[in-house]
Amino acid sequence: MIQDDIRTLEADACARIGAAATLEQLEAIRVEALGRKGVLAQISKEMGKLAPEERAQAGKLLNAAKQLLEEAFERRKREFDESRLAARLDAEWLDLTLPAPGPRPGSLHPITQIQMEIEDLFVSLGFMVLDGPEVETEYHNFDALNIPRDHPARDAQDTFWLTDGNLLRTHTSPVQVRGMERFRPPLRMIAPGRVFRNESVDASHEHTFYQIEGMMIDHDVSVAHLLYFMKTLLREVFRRDVSLRLRPGFFPFVEPGFELDVQCFICGGAGCPVCKQSGWVEQLGCGLVNPNVLRTSGIDPEQWSGFAFGLGLTRLVMMRYGVEDIRLLQSGDLRFLRQF
Ligand code: PHE
Repeated sequence: MIQDDIRTLEADACARIGAAATLEQLEAIRVEALGRKGVLAQISKEMGKLAPEERAQAGKLLNAAKQLLEEAFERRKREFDESRLAARLDAEWLDLTLPAPGPRPGSLHPITQIQMEIEDLFVSLGFMVLDGPEVETEYHNFDALNIPRDHPARDAQDTFWLTDGNLLRTHTSPVQVRGMERFRPPLRMIAPGRVFRNESVDASHEHTFYQIEGMMIDHDVSVAHLLYFMKTLLREVFRRDVSLRLRPGFFPFVEPGFELDVQCFICGGAGCPVCKQSGWVEQLGCGLVNPNVLRTSGIDPEQWSGFAFGLGLTRLVMMRYGVEDIRLLQSGDLRFLRQF
């Protein structure tokens, strides 16, 4: 009996609609039951063979089944839509009472960080922090520092000369002279700053880099004082105990003058690429202030003596963080800077 087929089909489809686990399953069931080639369409085709009064009755039943199933599909589909929406609301839930995240905070450049650490250290040791101009006179950069007229450092190949006879300072040492002009001894000062040299740029040379200068003038200042302060400085910067070595070094403004090396802490002195297999890394220039320099600035070398040192901050940062290319430090590249 066709009426029985319709009722069975209706009950069966209803049960499957209720059991559909996904929208895709539901759609497949709908196509199978209500689609153009679906089961209901098949039955409707077969009804042509029925006697007229039987056909009218079966037709009614079929239409009712069709309507009932369509409603059941709609209801089930709405349930899916609602639970999908609920899941989305759950995932995208926002607490609108939270404070806004705000702008991304900036950070200090590694050179600034190391400069501030060294400043804090020396201030705690009774030193003043002085500043000097980046455009210097020839007098402060060279003459007053006992650097003779024919010294190669004065060559245009090393120095950026300006057309008015001034220059971009090639080191922070002219701030020693400015310090002695402004303050009478005893004197303890440091001077961090930017310096310039007319160099071709490569992985280890820059035309612009940072130094920190230091000077102490008092009665009977000796190499022992110098060594104490250098050891304190380098231990602080590298946050570990350091072994130092002094080699003779020539700077016209100190006598005796030294190059100070630190035992390589990458290899512990055994030799590695960082120390070029020597076990030592050159760190800074220093020495006892040349009496001529004191005299030029009106300080009596019979009464006073001092030490001075000049240290490359850029180099220090490269050693501390293992930066292999000096050009990164002034590149302004945020991918580099965000690491500090
Ligand atoms: N001014 C020297 C340089 O730039 C470093 C230095 C400073 C050496 C003070 C001795 C004393 O190389």
